[in-house]
Amino acid sequence: MELQGLWNQIADRAKAANPPKDGDYYEGDVLYCGRCRTPKTSVVDLMGRPTRVFCLCRCAREARDRAEAERRERERLDRIDRLRNTAFPDRELMGCGFDRDDGANPRLSRLCRRYVEQFEAMKAQGKGLLLYGPVGTGKTFLAACIVNALTDRGVPCLMTSFARLGNLLSGPGPDRQARIDELARFALLVVDDLAAERDTEFMNELVYTVIDARYRQGLPIIVTTNLTGEELKNPAQVKRQRTYSRLLEMCYPAEVAGKDRRKARLQADYLGLKARLET
Ligand SMILES: Nc1ncnc2c1ncn2[C@@H]1O[C@H](COP(=O)(O)OP(=O)(O)O)[C@@H](O)[C@H]1O
Ligand SMILES: [Mg+2]
Ligand SMILES: [Zn+2]
Repeated sequence: MELQGLWNQIADRAKAANPPKDGDYYEGDVLYCGRCRTPKTSVVDLMGRPTRVFCLCRCAREARDRAEAERRERERLDRIDRLRNTAFPDRELMGCGFDRDDGANPRLSRLCRRYVEQFEAMKAQGKGLLLYGPVGTGKTFLAACIVNALTDRGVPCLMTSFARLGNLLSGPGPDRQARIDELARFALLVVDDLAAERDTEFMNELVYTVIDARYRQGLPIIVTTNLTGEELKNPAQVKRQRTYSRLLEMCYPAEVAGKDRRKARLQADYLGLKARLET
């Protein structure tokens, strides 16, 4: 009985020490929020005794949940920023997105969008794309669109070239194979412009090793190249055979045709200048 009296005293003091504010009000011993009109106190069992403690009213709970959701969203966006910075050592490609696709090659645009939509299945099967065709047809652009779209979805990607990988992997540090194996942290590896790298023993070996590492890891690779279908199927250099046949095994081949956009742009620039300077 004496203890109960003590509890009541504590409760009364707590009540006195926390006078209602901002429209809050008591009904009996229960403190209500003036805004949402739900309780700010509740009764809990404290050492066998029902005791009134403060709790969050509905609007305070909602504010807390909102702040928590905002924090999580900020963290998600920060992570995507980091993923994008890692994905594009070549900053220029960061700006390539399906929203900027002019749709000149609808079949290819659709195929690349589908690849993004189907990425989970593609990844599970370790299947990538081999975008091949003449220069300036948009292979690099579309591959970068895929990387950007997957990055938006939180998928770690890396878009690079064999030349860049060559520099990265020949520097000082742990051995080359270990560093090639580290590429496994990227769910998608895109290597731009196969066959544009130097034709050296080191490079040819590196190209094979990187492609083969993806194969062994069961992870997809997307490759763009100016090589023709014929050159890929029947390379003049026999040493390329094993590389390309492995690639064809891992990738859905898609020919990218069309006119050279860069040439078309140069031509337009030239005509613009000509009109300015010669009329
Ligand atoms: N679908 C597209 N929509 C808008 N611009 C494009 C598209 N495809 C390519 N481009 C632009 O045309 C130029 C050449 O394309 P690129 O992807 O570099 O060709 P490739 O890699 O086949 O040689 C680049 O400046 C690129 O940004
Ligand atoms: Mg290119
Ligand atoms: Zn409230």
